[in-house]
Amino acid sequence: MKLIALVGSLRRESVNLKLALTMQERYRGKFELEIANLGTLPFYDQDEEDNPPESVRKLSEQVAGADGVLILTPEYNWSVPGVLKNALDWLSRGDKVLIGKPVLAAGASPGMYGTLRGQLHLREILSSPGIQAVMLPPAGNEIAVAQAPQKFGEGGARLTDERTLTHIDVVVDRFLELIRHR
Ligand code: FNR
Repeated sequence: MKLIALVGSLRRESVNLKLALTMQERYRGKFELEIANLGTLPFYDQDEEDNPPESVRKLSEQVAGADGVLILTPEYNWSVPGVLKNALDWLSRGDKVLIGKPVLAAGASPGMYGTLRGQLHLREILSSPGIQAVMLPPAGNEIAVAQAPQKFGEGGARLTDERTLTHIDVVVDRFLELIRHR
């Protein structure tokens, strides 16, 4: 199985990127996870839509060719970062490659609520007509890593908090079932 990760932060030391890398390594036996580069996308411009830039074309192909999408994103001002929204806006046009695509959202934050408010916004965005992603119901399936700096181990490179990892294991298995049975 092949999944693609959209990471909503461009920061080199991003905890959300590290969450993506943790999942890439931890679930190697279950799926291949490619991490998209959202930093190369220009701002969405409807004038470019019929002839999109190469970076947009590439992302669109990556998503179309994936069995599912992981979104690992910070919360910015109680919503999703512009970097992620810009990517979703591009993907909601043209071939509309997210329609019917299984998407699993996750986020990490140093704060108390682990991006939950931003993920509520994200669910609304992912339900819009140009996207219509297929998601697990939120109850019991939210992946929100609160107080993230305390949960990333030695050097902070990977998520090491066992309780959080066990929860993610369960949700990931449900997500893979959703992909298999859709
Ligand atoms: C934040 N941060 C933040 N955190 C949060 O829990 N809720 C929020 O609404 C916001 N808002 C916000 C806005 C902006 C512009 C920035 C730069 C930051 C803090 C944020 O969670 C923290 O910087 C994370 O470490 C960002 O994620 P990455 O880059 O580490 O993945």
